[in-house]
Parts: sequence; structure tokens; C-alpha cells
Amino acid sequence: MAKNKPEGYLSGRESRRISKENRKITSELEKKRKRKNVPESEYLTKMHDPNNAVEFDNLHTYFFTDAGTVKSVDGVTFDVPIGKTVGVVGESGCGKSVTSLSLMQLLQRPQGQVVEGEIRLNLGDKAVNVAKMPDKELQHLRGNFMSMIFQEPMTSLNPVFRIGDQVDEVISLHDGEGKSEAEVKARTIEMLELVGIANSEGVYKMYPHELSGGMRQRVMIAMALACNPRIIIADEPTTALDVTIQAQVLDLLRGLKDKINSSIMFITHDLGVIAEMADYVVVMYAGRIVEKGTAEDIFYHPAHPYTIGLMASKPVVGKQVDKLYSIPGKVPNPINMPNYCYFKDRCEMCVKQCNGVYPCEISLSKTHKVSCYRYADEAGRREWEKSTEFIPDSEKGKGGNA
Ligand SMILES: Nc1ncnc2c1ncn2[C@@H]1O[C@H](COP(=O)(O)OP(=O)(O)OP(=O)(O)O)[C@@H](O)[C@H]1O
Ligand SMILES: [Mg+2]
Repeated sequence: MAKNKPEGYLSGRESRRISKENRKITSELEKKRKRKNVPESEYLTKMHDPNNAVEFDNLHTYFFTDAGTVKSVDGVTFDVPIGKTVGVVGESGCGKSVTSLSLMQLLQRPQGQVVEGEIRLNLGDKAVNVAKMPDKELQHLRGNFMSMIFQEPMTSLNPVFRIGDQVDEVISLHDGEGKSEAEVKARTIEMLELVGIANSEGVYKMYPHELSGGMRQRVMIAMALACNPRIIIADEPTTALDVTIQAQVLDLLRGLKDKINSSIMFITHDLGVIAEMADYVVVMYAGRIVEKGTAEDIFYHPAHPYTIGLMASKPVVGKQVDKLYSIPGKVPNPINMPNYCYFKDRCEMCVKQCNGVYPCEISLSKTHKVSCYRYADEAGRREWEKSTEFIPDSEKGKGGNA
């Protein structure tokens, strides 16, 4: 290739070669997916812990694009326990939505494919691996067992149908067996009222463009919760809302979760929302999990330099600063990931080992895990423990506040 071509430049020939390779890979994966009469044994699995509603296990979701393979999710492992809220945070483009779309199996196919790993779903009497489940079977789970509040209400609602018809459709499709038209409508009105829409009969007959952003978001929530799902994926459900409406929506979600005892996977880049909602927190960076733990672990004892940077960049009431901290540099190109720690080029706390391969996961406590070389040796860990007033597992519950 000529020397003065910009980074990422592809010649027509290279591009054609990539497309051809992609087609080969994706058509093989699609052929497998589209088989008829797939035996149940192929996708039945066992939960590693029966108290979990979902277990992501080494999930790899790639997009095979003409410019190359985008490794959007590259080896993600975390659990969503029953009745708990797990917050997923991370920079824009780090793979939060793709992780949740992999669980719902709503990836843009054929480019988007789960190429490796399991997503185990606890159905109560059995467990299934969603990544291998045929579409027909998944259709019975989507909407009524697991449901998603999408990131953008305006693009997720159909502009040419009335609100009532769209919510009715969800109910009659997933929960409508034996329900008359009037019963379905009554449930829709009930849901619209539950999400705090005052003029529910009026809104029932409106089109999405006639509603404000906050109301559209509420309709999305009503649709997602209409069939009492056990797993709710909320993908930035409050980003388009002002803070008062945001607080109401969060209250609503919390209330509904307790009423149905569902689990919530809450995706956002708003740390304040996470602090309010989540029991556990997963921090993602460039398609991988860099740190995970309980909300207390992450907020009071952040360990990964990226999490520490995130915490430093949020405003604190009563603390005066001239300028808020911002993490320097930018995320690496997802098509050409380096083979060392993805955060290294932006990290201000590097140690000698950081020149090595991507760091593996290190346990700081029973719940707290981090992928960073700073904690690979005793000295680094001790220094961090001192700086964060960390309480070891063995000392927890001995009158402390852990
Ligand atoms: N259909 C697609 N084709 C190609 N690449 C995609 C596609 N969808 C997502 N990606 C890539 O996958 C990566 C992760 O995207 P994702 O939407 O999960 O980000 P995110 O963490 O949800 O970001 P945000 O906070 O902005 O919503 C990005 O690099 C994105 O460019
Ligand atoms: Mg997203």
C-alpha cells in the first residue's frame, strides 16, 4: 500500500476480499441459525448459580463489516442475579447496547453475530443458552419473559401507528391468549396509567409525534413492562429526559421491579443514576469489562484507572473545582485493537507490566474484580487498599459498615 495513505485506508481489492470473507463466515453462521427442528438439547444448559436470572459467559459479539471485523463485545462475563439491578457503565461505543441486544438476540444480522460464549437464561424449571436458541423459540421469551426499554423512543416507536395500537400489539402478541379486544385495551390503559400518563384515553389515540420526549419514553416503558417480564433491560431510559422526569421514571422502574421481583440490567453513562439504582456495577471499556463489583465496591473503592477517572470526572455537590477532570486521549479503533491493555495509551497510572498482553481478571474481594496490572502483585494491592480504606473479606461483618 502507498505510504501516504490515511490510517484505516482500504483499497478496493482489500475491501472486496474482506466482504468475501465476511460473507463466507456470516452465511455459515446464518445457515446454522436457520435450521428447522433444532433439538432442545442443543440449547439447553445449566445455570452456574440458580440465584442468577442471566449469566453472560465469555460473550463475543462481532460485526463483520466491509472495513473489517468490529469486536464490539470481546469476552464479557457477568451475572444478573434474580431481583437485583445490575448497572452497566462505560464510554459511548464500548459495547453496552450490543451486550443487551445479544441477550435479546436483536442484533443487526447477518453482520452482527454472537461468535463465541454463552448467555444463560434462567427460566425457572430449566435454563437455556440464548445464543444458540432458534428464533421461533426466542419469540416466546421476548416481550413477556425478557423485555427491553430501547435507547431512543422516537426511533423505536412506529411513527405511523397510534400509541394504543402499538401497546395493544405487544400485549396481544405475548400475553393475549384468551383476551378479548376490550380486555387488551383495558390492560393498555392500565399500563399507560401505571407509567404516569394522566390522559391515558387521549394518549391511546395519539401518534408518537404528538407526545413529548418524556411521554414517549414512558410509553416505551409501558410497552416493555406490559407483560410483567422477569428480566428488564433498560438501555439509557432516562438520557432524553430532564432530571425531574428522570427521577419519576427511576422511581417507577424501582417500584415495578419490586412488584414483579424482576431483575434489571440498567445501561447508562450517568454515574448518578447508577448510584441510585444499582446493586452491582459492571464497568466496560472498548468491548471488555475492566472492573465489576457491588455498587459500594465501585463507588467507594474504585480500582481500575478508567473507573477512577470516571469517578473523578463526575461533579460533586459542595466540592469546588476550577475544571472537571476529563480522561485524556480516545478509545482505540475497534477494528484494530492493540494486543496490550486497551486503556494503556490513556492511562496515567501505568506500571512496568503494562507493556505485556491484555491483563486477566484479578479478584480484589469475593465480589470485586478488576483487569489491571497494578494489582498483579502484593505491593500494588496493598498500596491501593491503603488509599481506599479497603476492608478485606475476612474482616467484613465484624462491626464494620461493609
Ligand atoms: N450494526 C452495526 N454495525 C457495525 N458496527 C456496529 C453496529 N452496531 C454497533 N456497532 C459498533 O459496536 C460498538 C459498540 O456499540 P454499542 O452500540 O454497544 O455502544 P454503546 O456502549 O451502547 O454506546 P452508547 O453509550 O453511545 O449507546 C461500537 O464501536 C459500534 O460502532
Ligand atoms: Mg447504546
